[in-house]
Amino acid sequence: MSEPQARPKRAEAQRETHEPVLEVSGLVKHYAAGERGKVVRAVDGVSLTIGEGEVLGLVGESGSGKSTVGKCVLRLTEPTAGRIRLGGRDITHLSRRGMRSLRRDVHIVFQDPYSSLNPRFTVGRIVAEPLVRHGVARRSAAADRVTAMLGKVGLGPETRDRYPHELSGGQRQRVGLARSLILEPKLVVADEPVSALDVSVQASVLNLIADLQRDMGFSCLFITHDLSVVEFLADRIAVMYLGQIVETGPRDRLFAAPEHPYTQALLSAAPVPDPAEQRRRSRVVLGGDPPSPVRPPAGCRFHTRCPVAVDRCRTEPPDLMNRRLNGDHLTACHLVSSDSLPDARGTRA
Ligand SMILES: Nc1ncnc2c1ncn2[C@@H]1O[C@H](COP(=O)(O)OP(=O)(O)O)[C@@H](O)[C@H]1O
Ligand SMILES: [Mg+2]
Repeated sequence: MSEPQARPKRAEAQRETHEPVLEVSGLVKHYAAGERGKVVRAVDGVSLTIGEGEVLGLVGESGSGKSTVGKCVLRLTEPTAGRIRLGGRDITHLSRRGMRSLRRDVHIVFQDPYSSLNPRFTVGRIVAEPLVRHGVARRSAAADRVTAMLGKVGLGPETRDRYPHELSGGQRQRVGLARSLILEPKLVVADEPVSALDVSVQASVLNLIADLQRDMGFSCLFITHDLSVVEFLADRIAVMYLGQIVETGPRDRLFAAPEHPYTQALLSAAPVPDPAEQRRRSRVVLGGDPPSPVRPPAGCRFHTRCPVAVDRCRTEPPDLMNRRLNGDHLTACHLVSSDSLPDARGTRA
């Protein structure tokens, strides 16, 4: 292969030559809803890929199916349909034993920094646990790696002998990160990792995750209900609504020129640091809560709350596709095309 002219970002360079680290296609997960025959359509046809060293931000309101996607990827729950490939290997129907080796490569960072750490174990034992469980190191031999990993997350060696209840929320989340990263996973699924933390410590933990991701080069599915959290962390964003992806694209494009009215609403609800910019953005207020995923609306699932919906939206589901001939920016909205620019915020994209 000849040398490329300009050196692209690492994630882009690798995407050209490697299989994606994660490839999810047509993922469906329906839960039984208690009442006879009813199903919760938690995830209803989600496709996404994550390249090597890439961070994908999966964003949407509570109940949109984000955690279910994460759980299916980790095979913590069995998908109803669809395919999941990890490093080119189909893991959709992997056996329990196969999953054990898989979990060594894929790690989850839990949302709640307290309940996910065993309160009866010291930090040293908690962080060493994946090494021991996967037979990488005996407990006695793990100490050096634990100390090194704690250092990477900004915790001193003395932390090894502490118990979770002796630590602050931010410190506990650092311990959770150290445990998740000690096996140097290829992919980290981080489900709302800072949502349970005080606003004052959220930024420092996010910065730490960004630093660790850059240093260690893992790929990341970063799940959050808060778009502003992924603005500085994600390479690409996928926006979910009622079990489906309604828009996906490179982070910068999605923030600068959101196409789907739902994304526009999410963005206009997020605080903007620049007051002049805040004034320029007219706010789109979404009415009410999302409809129930037991009986999602016909047509475009967003039409019941959409400020610009037309008749067609009520009957015909829009495909997620490239509607403005602009690279890998995909939107599921009938009203987005290369010559019509709906913009619920009243500003031009
Ligand atoms: N184990 C389960 N059994 C039944 N319904 C579930 C289960 N887990 C999640 N759900 C439902 O699936 C939908 C999506 O949930 P979830 O994936 O947790 O969304 P999010 O993470 O975006 O908040 C919600 O309506 C939720 O109530
Ligand atoms: Mg969730």
